[in-house]
Amino acid sequence: MKNILHIISSARGELSYSNKLSAFILEKLLQQGNINKITVRNLVKETPPHADEMSIHEFYKHPGLYDEQSQQLLSYANTIVEEVREADIIVIGTPVFNLGISTPLKAWLDQLIRVGITYIFDEHWNRVGQFKGKKVYLSIASGGRNTEGTPDYISDYLKDVLRSYTGITDVETYRIEGTMESGFIADYESVLKNFYAS
Ligand SMILES: Cc1cc2nc3c(=O)[nH]c(=O)nc-3n(C[C@H](O)[C@H](O)[C@H](O)COP(=O)(O)O)c2cc1C
Repeated sequence: MKNILHIISSARGELSYSNKLSAFILEKLLQQGNINKITVRNLVKETPPHADEMSIHEFYKHPGLYDEQSQQLLSYANTIVEEVREADIIVIGTPVFNLGISTPLKAWLDQLIRVGITYIFDEHWNRVGQFKGKKVYLSIASGGRNTEGTPDYISDYLKDVLRSYTGITDVETYRIEGTMESGFIADYESVLKNFYAS
């Protein structure tokens, strides 16, 4: 039985196309069966703290030196690390904002990725991700369509971050594009026509 973690990062609730596409992905995963539980982390209802001077100091502290203040400052980070650790499948939704991911999602990543936790260094100073074997589905909504061959900033960026700093390499991307076009009708089924839960 598998655990799913669902990351929501659009502020538009029911109106959000990335949220809706994520919901369709969850539906497909549930249809395939073998799901134990779904944990929802809504980054808009509970905004991740920004990495400030004090929390960054804690991120690099040796765990043996943690005190009560460390536990407070690391509380959010530790919670989301455990959510990712527990998940077999992670569904991440994001709008495209100025060619990049949403700011809550960036803040979540900055709280999640930590040396000694999501990755370690081996004896040759190579990074070794600690969360290997998980599956990630990206659900990305954009107002326009990538007709100019602009680099795939979001998917490439998230794949690189996850591979380099968590060891997660199995990342599948689904996009709902053109959401700002007049008369746009979202066809989630055709976006997901090749969906296969591996
Ligand atoms: C601040 C802002 C920046 C945006 N930047 C882009 C962009 O760079 N490229 C694009 O195609 N659409 C852009 N859009 C449109 C959104 O990607 C589009 O509305 C999308 O559907 C939002 O995702 P959601 O429906 O999940 O909220 C932008 C919208 C906002 C509000």
